[in-house]
Amino acid sequence: MSVALVVSDATSGHDRRDTLISLKDAGKTYDTRSGPVVAVEAVSLDLARGETLALLGPSGCGKSTLLMMIAGLLEPSCGHIVINGAPLSGPIPELGFVFQRDLLLDWRTVLDNVLLPFALIGQDPKRHEQRARLLLERVGLAGFENKRPYELSGGMRQRVAICRALIGDPDIFLLDEPFAALDAFTREQMQLDMQRLSLDKPRTTILVTHEISEAVFMADKVAVMTARPSRIHQIIDIDLPRPRNMKTRETEAFARYITKIHGLFASLGVIRG
Ligand SMILES: Nc1ncnc2c1ncn2[C@@H]1O[C@H](COP(=O)(O)OP(=O)(O)OP(=O)(O)O)[C@@H](O)[C@H]1O
Ligand SMILES: [Mg+2]
Repeated sequence: MSVALVVSDATSGHDRRDTLISLKDAGKTYDTRSGPVVAVEAVSLDLARGETLALLGPSGCGKSTLLMMIAGLLEPSCGHIVINGAPLSGPIPELGFVFQRDLLLDWRTVLDNVLLPFALIGQDPKRHEQRARLLLERVGLAGFENKRPYELSGGMRQRVAICRALIGDPDIFLLDEPFAALDAFTREQMQLDMQRLSLDKPRTTILVTHEISEAVFMADKVAVMTARPSRIHQIIDIDLPRPRNMKTRETEAFARYITKIHGLFASLGVIRG
């Protein structure tokens, strides 16, 4: 199913599709000692540059597997993945990844954790310090640059991990349930912070979540996934104006999307009344 955004090309007057991420029947079967486990059956989708897609599905349905394949960290067992017109054959530099656990280094300061990607490739982190400080400020962590991760709350740590994933200014941003361990208030704040972080540059983002309201609030498209072996059951366009704020959640349109997605999961037997 195509989810490409049709972008009007002002110079030629023609519409063009600016697809950045394309999956064609991409699937993954794990070989285990007790036999093959089909985690992802065959997923096809096109994601346009700058769009945010939420992968929404029940636990164990294959969301992380799909995300790891798109990151080039896991080879598909079938099908193809094309990024920016080139077949994907491994991790690519223009990508930021936030894992479910923050994976910060406790012996480095907050600032040095954000700058870690440069240290790892032997670049002078000092050159990027100003950007690191700016990112930390945008997520409300100005003044915490010299703290160690163990001095921070779970939500603050996850913000540091997000800044670290964005320090290289990636075109593609992948997040695997980054807010799952956070309380409801922090989670809402993080959803707003994420939006602020995208203001300087539209980033093609894929967010894994199993919270319907988070998916609707954050995404331009929500992919409703079935239980394992997973497929994308339906992709829903979320036509809510941006920037979104607390009031967005109170609108009728927002409630309609929630009801619709809830109904889809009920029809799939994922939610039973
Ligand atoms: N390395 C692996 N080897 C074998 N099976 C695996 C492996 N990784 C995942 N699986 C299986 O593949 C299925 C999908 O796992 P995956 O982690 O992608 O699900 P998920 O949707 O991200 O789940 P959750 O919401 O709980 O994080 C599960 O049944 C899991 O047991
Ligand atoms: Mg997962």
